[in-house]
Amino acid sequence: MVEISTSVLNVEKENMMKVFYGLEVAHTDYFHIDVMDGKFVPKNTVEMMREYANAIKQISNIPIDVHLMVEDVKKFIDEYIALKPNIITFHLEATKSKEEVKKYIDYIKENNIKVGISVKPGTKIEDVYEYLPYIHMCLVMTVEPGLGGQKLIPETLEKVKKLKEYIEKNNIDIDIEVDGGINDETIEKAKNAGANIFVAGTAIVSKEDYGKAIDSLKN
Ligand code: DX5
Ligand code: ZN
Repeated sequence: MVEISTSVLNVEKENMMKVFYGLEVAHTDYFHIDVMDGKFVPKNTVEMMREYANAIKQISNIPIDVHLMVEDVKKFIDEYIALKPNIITFHLEATKSKEEVKKYIDYIKENNIKVGISVKPGTKIEDVYEYLPYIHMCLVMTVEPGLGGQKLIPETLEKVKKLKEYIEKNNIDIDIEVDGGINDETIEKAKNAGANIFVAGTAIVSKEDYGKAIDSLKN
């Protein structure tokens, strides 16, 4: 099944409530919250995402998909656990040891929240294989994390394909999410590569009719 997770990164603060209501009515499958700490990536969205996530939580029961682009993973897991999102995803590159990765997986799960691990375009997909049986989603970044509105890097879809083959061969039940540069053309390629959850920011939020934009991505 194709699911759309709308990134609210590029939503303007002045319009946030209108946009969030619009996305709720348009039946986005998830709200995607891009938390950036100014260290793991240059941009800092900590305050803005805190405000956006709380606002969404007040008006909607649509699942929240938290994407942590931060160095201090534990600190932000703690902050977002309180919000009861559907899933919290952290970056493999933000961790220093296998023990640390396992610690975060267990910690998020103990709080009854699904766990995702994300990899940047330059990270080998094989690096996540050992964690796959313990997590719910693998987020393959299709752009360098940090900014909305970029172009999808075609080579990243090779990683999606490899991952899909690996999980099928090993009978692992896991979602594959792609994030960055997803639009009507690229979604088709990402889907064929094996992804089933698609983050889209610009392709939805820049349009007048969110419902139409989401339907168009889904078909
Ligand atoms: C990039 C973020 C993405 C991004 C998606 O670091 O993780 O979620 O905002 O935006 P678009 O769809 O515009 O590439
Ligand atoms: Zn994201």
